[in-house]
Amino acid sequence: MVEESVVQRGLQDVVALESRICFIDGRGGRLIYQGYDIRDLAARSSFEEVAYLLWYGQLPSARQLHDLRQRLGELRTLPRPVLDVLDRIPADSHPMDVLRTAVSALAVFEPGESRPGESSIGGALRLTAVIPTILGYFHRRRTGAPPLTVNPELSHAAWILHALRDSPPTDLEVRALDVALILHADHELNASTFAARVTASTLSDLYSAITSAIGTLKGPLHGGANERVMELLAEAGNVDRIEAVVRDKLAKHERIMGFGHRVYKVEDPRATILRDWSRRVGEAKGDLTYFQLLRRLEDVVHAEKGLYPNVDLYSGSVYSLMGIPKDLFTPIFAASRVAGWTAHVLEEYQDLRLIRPMAQYIGPTDLTYVPIEQRPD
Ligand code: SDX
Repeated sequence: MVEESVVQRGLQDVVALESRICFIDGRGGRLIYQGYDIRDLAARSSFEEVAYLLWYGQLPSARQLHDLRQRLGELRTLPRPVLDVLDRIPADSHPMDVLRTAVSALAVFEPGESRPGESSIGGALRLTAVIPTILGYFHRRRTGAPPLTVNPELSHAAWILHALRDSPPTDLEVRALDVALILHADHELNASTFAARVTASTLSDLYSAITSAIGTLKGPLHGGANERVMELLAEAGNVDRIEAVVRDKLAKHERIMGFGHRVYKVEDPRATILRDWSRRVGEAKGDLTYFQLLRRLEDVVHAEKGLYPNVDLYSGSVYSLMGIPKDLFTPIFAASRVAGWTAHVLEEYQDLRLIRPMAQYIGPTDLTYVPIEQRPD
């Protein structure tokens, strides 16, 4: 008989590996990237500087940051064969499926960038640079907007807004998105990062690992939650109906998206920062509707279930205020998390150990094989 052992469903509280990239203090509500507190980085850094920190383990010099920005700008263009693949994808496809397909296609046409090992930093830069291009190219085609013109001069946040919108973004919008990208850049062994590391641990290539991560992030219990938060707000319609909508969902044992977390036992520090940006962008737009609905939602869910908000509660309101459609929220999460995913894949390649847990077998072990002609119909 298989020896009995304690099963940790969902690998909850299982420490699978050592890493220097990210520390989550679940009880203290702190998030650290390579030693730096997320509150300092959100207040003073940029997505590009944080990506450099995640990849190289230290903050860049001015020259190193300049070179990184320049390199990312140069790598934004998609090869024609991948554009041809995008042209064949049905316009009503979910952008996360489009992203997964395009990254997978890119690996076919650029195998060298995807090669596993120390040189994968080139692939990390390439994927970080090109994800907004994939999203913008597809979104413009499906909406009939003017074709995307690649601008290598823009910051990552500005490039995302340029790719997805026609109207030029304000400085406040660019900064709000840049902070959101910083906050989403990494989060230790979340499901999509773990999927990337499992793939890399077999010595599979970088683009395969990121394709695994994209498919994992798509799930509503992980990346897709911010889309559903906005659907709940639309369903409630006004502050007075929030309580009834929440009670109805809880009565049906449904999860309230944007709340709860496997690691944080207090407020997700990213939610704290995004709450403030939701208010600031709402004030700048003269529309605090989302902010007021979300504040009410927080009060009701905490009163009913004692749950705290996570990163997904306020992010959708910031993106919606910027005119970004809901089905692009999780792809924007991916446009940031690709920095963390690739940093973890690089770390896995540098200290490789095949990731292979066990299952507690609970089936029979001594059945007799019966030839098919003797089996009952
Ligand atoms: C992200 O891992 C990461 O770091 C992910 C992430 C990242 O940056 O990569 O932080 C991003 O994925 C944030 C989470 C986004 N997902 C959601 O907002 C979906 C709603 N949240 C829940 O599904 C849930 O909180 C999880 C999945 C996030 C965590 O769930 P756990 O740790 O598996 O907790 P659980 O399912 O064991 O729930 C414990 C109790 C249960 O109550 P009982 O059945 O014991 O009475 O808490 C309840 C749950 O029902 N609960 C919720 C709830 N979350 C937990 N009840 C209602 N609504 C919720 N959101």
